[in-house]
Amino acid sequence: MKKILLTGGLGYIGSHVAVELIDKGFEVIILDDLSNSELFVLDRIKEITGKDIIFEKGDIRDYDFLYHLLSRYNIEGVIHFAAKKAVGESVQKPLLYYDINVSGLICLLKALGDHSIKKLIFSSSCTVYGSPDSFPVTEQTPFGDTPSPYGKTKQMCEQILEDASLIADYDIVSLRYFNPVGAHPTGKIGELPKGVPNNLVPFITQTAAGLRDELSIFGSDYNTPDGTAIRDYIHVVDLARAHVRALEANLGKYVALNVGTGKGHSVLEVVKTFQEVTGVNLPFKIVDRREGDIPEIFGDTNFANHKIGWKAEKGLAEMLKDAWRWQKSLLK
Ligand code: NAD
Ligand code: UD1
Repeated sequence: MKKILLTGGLGYIGSHVAVELIDKGFEVIILDDLSNSELFVLDRIKEITGKDIIFEKGDIRDYDFLYHLLSRYNIEGVIHFAAKKAVGESVQKPLLYYDINVSGLICLLKALGDHSIKKLIFSSSCTVYGSPDSFPVTEQTPFGDTPSPYGKTKQMCEQILEDASLIADYDIVSLRYFNPVGAHPTGKIGELPKGVPNNLVPFITQTAAGLRDELSIFGSDYNTPDGTAIRDYIHVVDLARAHVRALEANLGKYVALNVGTGKGHSVLEVVKTFQEVTGVNLPFKIVDRREGDIPEIFGDTNFANHKIGWKAEKGLAEMLKDAWRWQKSLLK
């Protein structure tokens, strides 16, 4: 059985990937410092899969800890989720973001090199494309201007990985996530935003649950069919399955893949679909655009479909139904 290390594996995306990997017969070892996750998630992964998981609490920037962890287990591949991800916070705390996201990756690469571990999957983001002007974006679309330190760390990390792959025998895949939403269909794991959510879907589910008064829709004057901004929302379980495929594929050196559905949905479409599938009324108002937001992005996923034999299967209705089930489970 192949042993796979998930850094940041108790987080939103890592926990869903852990479930899918265990389902496919992999043995999972999770490293997390619990800075943005809760230990109960470990029990939930065990409940869903019926399998035991090794958990190591520690920081990705701690080389000795990493070195010894990799020495203890015969790890064949690593999926690197551990990072900070709040765009606004990254503007306030740029050094923290460069330290965890960039120095953390370099520390991991050193430890992998010292153990001759070649397989690495990296959590990148469509934010590397900045604000593109033609759609869908392909992997050949150049990196664009991304105003936040968070976005810049993803561009830097991809550059570091590509350069590292030129001088050593690596097999590295960067997965450029579009907008991951939803939760596991069991309702046992999902996103756990701290404080007021910045992202659309958690804000919608918290408003529907009565935890927030109303949703603010940021801008209705974009050059889009209904004036609200367009994104490529992807179900977190589909996204998780892409990691399993990327791990199983032998792509060699370095490759970056778009992981989205290839379809764009506007904010108003998301709101309407949420009301339709849940039957819950969602109070909302239109306000000014949010600073730093781009009007539109969705991805061309043909390259990923072909390279790793993967395609997103779940639509917006299922994403929102599952997000709502998860939100309701948190209220109990
Ligand atoms: P998350 O915050 O839920 O998970 C990250 C996990 O890493 C958390 O459990 C946290 O405790 C852990 N962690 C943070 N710093 C650490 C450190 N120094 N050492 C060890 N563990 C540490 O985030 P997520 O949504 O699951 O995102 C996972 C990855 O995907 C991140 O790299 C993120 O930038 C990237 N990504 C996320 C999205 C998204 O919308 N969620 C979109 C694009 C890319
Ligand atoms: C944001 C980040 C991006 C990150 C992604 C996933 C910014 C500028 N970008 O993307 O780097 O990879 O999250 O974590 O923060 N919206 C509302 N009302 C709300 C919240 C959001 O109308 O209360 C709108 C936004 O304007 C946007 C869409 O909903 O048009 C999606 O927003 P969000 O979920 O925050 O994701 P992104 O902005 O696409």
